[in-house]
Parts: sequence; structure tokens; C-alpha cells
Amino acid sequence: MKSLTQRHIEALRSAALKARAAAYAPYSRFRVGAALLIHDGTLVTGCNVENASYGLTLCAERAAVVAAVAHRLRFTALGIVTDAPEPAAPCGACLQVLAEFCPPDFPILSWSARNRKPPLSRTLEQLFPCVFRLKAERSAKR
Ligand code: THU
Repeated sequence: MKSLTQRHIEALRSAALKARAAAYAPYSRFRVGAALLIHDGTLVTGCNVENASYGLTLCAERAAVVAAVAHRLRFTALGIVTDAPEPAAPCGACLQVLAEFCPPDFPILSWSARNRKPPLSRTLEQLFPCVFRLKAERSAKR
């Protein structure tokens, strides 16, 4: 895994925590905030946005990814904060979307908003070893 500085790790946690506060989750009451670390040290965030038609719900991680892609920004790490009692991994759909833009060693950190336990810290490949790809290349060029 690429080394992240302690300052970047804390910036990811605090941006994801702040993003979680904007979550629109009236159905599950489960809030998630996500923050992507951009090459220049800035952060792009997202939160989960639910819908009365439940299947239309957008996860926080994908909200952050589409925002970063729309701004043509490349990202080097993801941090999430969830309402789970323990640090939770992003869902499989979000990992598949991340794999479209991120290398296998892309770092993913997850915290619980309920405690100050250290994050779950894994690479994309550790969490999602069998990515679906149309081509043999490992990650799409942008
Ligand atoms: N959720 C996320 O935002 N990210 C994930 O990786 C898993 C789940 C959201 C979707 C839904 O609004 C709520 O958490 C409960 O599943």
C-alpha cells in the first residue's frame, strides 16, 4: 500500500466525518461520509443519498467518485466514516466503481463514527481481488 502521511489520514477522517453529516438517509438511518484524497492534497467528498424507491440509493463512495471524475481529478486514497459499530468496508458495487479508476494498491481507510478505534486499512485489491473487466488491462487510463 502507498504510504499515507498521518496528516493525510486525519484529513481523510475529518472530511469523511463532515460529509457524513450531510447524508440523506431517512430510510436506513445509516449515514456514510466518504472523502477522496486528490493528488494536490485537497479532498473531494460524498455522502449517501437515499430515495423512496430504495434501489435508487447512491452510496457515499460512489457520490465522491463521480464528483471527482466530473472535475477531472485523480485520487490517491479513500476514507469513509459510517454509522456501523466497527469500521466497515465499502460495498462491492462501490469497490467495482473504484476499480475503474484506481490501482490495486489504492488505500481504503474506514472508521466508525461511534468510536475512535483505529481505521480498517486495506488496499482495493485486498477488499476486492476479483474485479470485473472488459479488457485485460488492470485499470482504465484517463
Ligand atoms: N452505504 C454507503 O453509502 N456505502 C456503502 O459502502 C454501503 C452502504 C449506504 C447505502 C444506504 O443509504 C445505507 O448505507 C444503508 O445501506
